[in-house]
Amino acid sequence: MTALNPAQSLSPSSLMQRALYAALDSLGLKVKDLNGLIAVPSLAESHFMEAHYLGTQVGLLPGKSVIVRTVDTGGAGPVTGLLEARRMVENEGVDLVAVVAGDAVKGLSSQEFLKRADQSCSHPAAELPSPVIPNGYDRIARFQMSKYGVTRDQLASCSALMSIMASRHPFALTKKPRTIADILAATSVAPVTSVLECARRADGGAAILVASSQFLAKRGLPRDTGVVIIGGGEASGPLYPPKEIDTISEEMFSCEEAAGVAYEEAQLGVRDIDFFGLYDCFPICLIRAVEAVGLAEKGLGGVFIEEKYREIAARAAVDPEFRPQDIFPVNTHGGLLAFGAPWEVPAMYNIIEAFHQLTNSAGKRQVKDARRALVYGNGGIFSASAVAILGKGKY
Ligand code: CAA
Repeated sequence: MTALNPAQSLSPSSLMQRALYAALDSLGLKVKDLNGLIAVPSLAESHFMEAHYLGTQVGLLPGKSVIVRTVDTGGAGPVTGLLEARRMVENEGVDLVAVVAGDAVKGLSSQEFLKRADQSCSHPAAELPSPVIPNGYDRIARFQMSKYGVTRDQLASCSALMSIMASRHPFALTKKPRTIADILAATSVAPVTSVLECARRADGGAAILVASSQFLAKRGLPRDTGVVIIGGGEASGPLYPPKEIDTISEEMFSCEEAAGVAYEEAQLGVRDIDFFGLYDCFPICLIRAVEAVGLAEKGLGGVFIEEKYREIAARAAVDPEFRPQDIFPVNTHGGLLAFGAPWEVPAMYNIIEAFHQLTNSAGKRQVKDARRALVYGNGGIFSASAVAILGKGKY
């Protein structure tokens, strides 16, 4: 990954290129070693056929026997890309695929960002005021409050908990833990959403390489320095929620279905997973995610998060050595709420953190004996869910 909000402002294309070169360099590989490229489009500088644009910029194209694809499932894109890369390796004879994303939404003025972000999920039928996306998630939060009794403190706990996690990651944007009171006192953006409960707008790029076992063997690359993709699932919902809260139904949500498909393929259950990288663009997304992957019972995700937050905050206050990951092995980097969220890029950080956990390179954030991880990306307003289950490369 590139730095978040780099000192010199860079275009989404430059961020994508830097991330791609960094990933290849880390293994001593070159662009011409790739025969697959997947890119996720940006909001700040969208291109027709983003992956072809990037492939041409870096000199992968023109080239023979190269498969290049743009995937657009919004914020689910990086996980969709990971699963698509696996299909390319398994079914299409591709050896080495790069999945790349980059965006520079912090570099846009507030007005320009909102103009573009508002267009992405707005429709007259949804009657969502600007900012459209925070208001869309806020509507779902209010649905969850009326249907399942989620409280305002439970929502705020999500952001407070993510700020504790982020404060332990050197690259995260949020450096200091925040309390529920801090979150509630921040500027209001929508009826039950403050500015500190919004995905933290940022610039950044990231790239991931997916290789076949044959490629690793041929190039003498050890299997145990990487991770394996052992299951995946995707499911879809509508682009925007209905206007009336009382007409929202469980049918519009898709994470549980995607997670179910992934668990089934991997022949695993929630107890087999040691680390979870869960999408958390707004608190309600994290609350629904802990339920969907099976960490909390249906309707009790808010209670679960608030309990974890209160326990972690209390123990961290008296013990500087306390390891929050021992009781909450989720988003040890701080998620979108506190690590940083360059539009469709941030699920990359869930995958990268899972990689560090599974390769025992997460430093003081390390989850003990992490052998399997689940990563989840969400696009639009609960419009796309992609879940992948990853395993340690070494058995
Ligand atoms: N934690 C800590 N600080 C935060 C924060 C957070 N989660 N969010 C914002 N801030 C801070 C910012 O850092 C900023 O301070 P600095 O200038 O010192 O950096 C300050 O609060 C104001 O933030 P903005 O510059 O963003 O303020 P704004 O007035 O221009 O806009 C906003 C406010 C309308 C809430 C805007 O931040 C916003 O729309 N955020 C949500 C972004 C968003 O919708 N992302 C997509 C999420 S959905 C998804 O991920 C799925 C998909 O498919 C893309």
